[in-house]
Amino acid sequence: MDNGTEAASLQSLRDVLSGRRERSPVVDRRQVLQGLLGGAAALALPRLALGQVEIPPGQIRLMFNENPYGPSPKALTEVAKILPMTAYYPGEIENDLMSLFIERHSLDRDQVFLASGSNEGLQAAMMAFGKRGKVISPALTYSDHLLYAEKLGVEVQRIPLRDDMAIDLEAMARVVDDSVSLIYLCNPNNPTGMAIDGDELRSFCRELEGRVPILIDEAYNELTDNPDYTSMVDLVRGGANILITRTFSKIFGMAGLRVGYGMGHPDIVSVVKDNVMAWPNGVGLYAAYHSYLDDDFIAFSREKVLQGRKMVNATFRRHGIEPLPSQTSFVYADIGRNADTFEAAMAARNVRIRGAYEGYDTFSRVSMGRLEELKIFDRVFSEVFKG
Ligand SMILES: Cc1ncc(COP(=O)(O)O)c(C=O)c1O
Repeated sequence: MDNGTEAASLQSLRDVLSGRRERSPVVDRRQVLQGLLGGAAALALPRLALGQVEIPPGQIRLMFNENPYGPSPKALTEVAKILPMTAYYPGEIENDLMSLFIERHSLDRDQVFLASGSNEGLQAAMMAFGKRGKVISPALTYSDHLLYAEKLGVEVQRIPLRDDMAIDLEAMARVVDDSVSLIYLCNPNNPTGMAIDGDELRSFCRELEGRVPILIDEAYNELTDNPDYTSMVDLVRGGANILITRTFSKIFGMAGLRVGYGMGHPDIVSVVKDNVMAWPNGVGLYAAYHSYLDDDFIAFSREKVLQGRKMVNATFRRHGIEPLPSQTSFVYADIGRNADTFEAAMAARNVRIRGAYEGYDTFSRVSMGRLEELKIFDRVFSEVFKG
């Protein structure tokens, strides 16, 4: 990471914004924001206005798979420069950011789109294809977009995981018929953290080529053991009938800035773009552009997540629990007791983790925080586990 003065002062800014360095974080963050807002400095910002970055003092936040080391210091420096320009709609930055993906993955412009967080791209894809037929999804997976689409009338058929908690590709392929308009896969899957083997997934996509489009959510790809092998972007390059979504919320540590993107067959990209609702957030795009180029920060974040994963795995194992093999920034494990009760007991000690999902009542999910936070997690987990 850049150790220059500017980076250091941005680090302090970030720490102040996240309430880590000050005894009175609400007041100090407000002052910092007022400083950033320049002309509006005389205004007292209401507490609500800070909602998105408000974290109760002392809370260890391990429930949303965020990267607390982000955003990239270089991106923050650049963003500070453009804030005074935000009276204007964003311009060329959209094209510039898309050019980075196009260049990195050797794609054409009509194979790429931007969205306000990958969730928006996923929702748009669900609506675009869900109107035409049924969507097939694993029964235990990331589901915000599935629930959104169901509320709007889309039918989603959920296929149970295999006994080893892997996504059951064979069972999914078996149910494909003319009534199916889209298959959704999350690779690696959330909340299990497990990745589908790259070549198995390639065969699956080839087997279904021409029958049904496949949407692959690669939100955690950069954290996998072998990102290129695990990603299906090579199939997109080859013109396959698939769409991949990616995000700046995970390894890039920009969840609050809401930037995601998609890469896919031009026909899919075109129909999904027609269903995207929000205009992109210019500040987010700007931050994304500079984050994407900050190799030092990306390597640093990956390293921290990998170290954190070892720590959380060790905590579980010390209590006789074998976590699922995660290739993400979270770990999922059967703790052998009610996960919601356990979550509440952890929360009462200011450590927030996730409780039960989709009938997996004894499984907890823990996201990677800062390493020092994971030490506290370790201590609190032991206390609560021993009861
Ligand atoms: C698998 C998966 N996909 C998509 C998202 C949504 O991310 P974004 O912030 O890009 O909307 C998440 C968020 O946790 C996720 O876990």
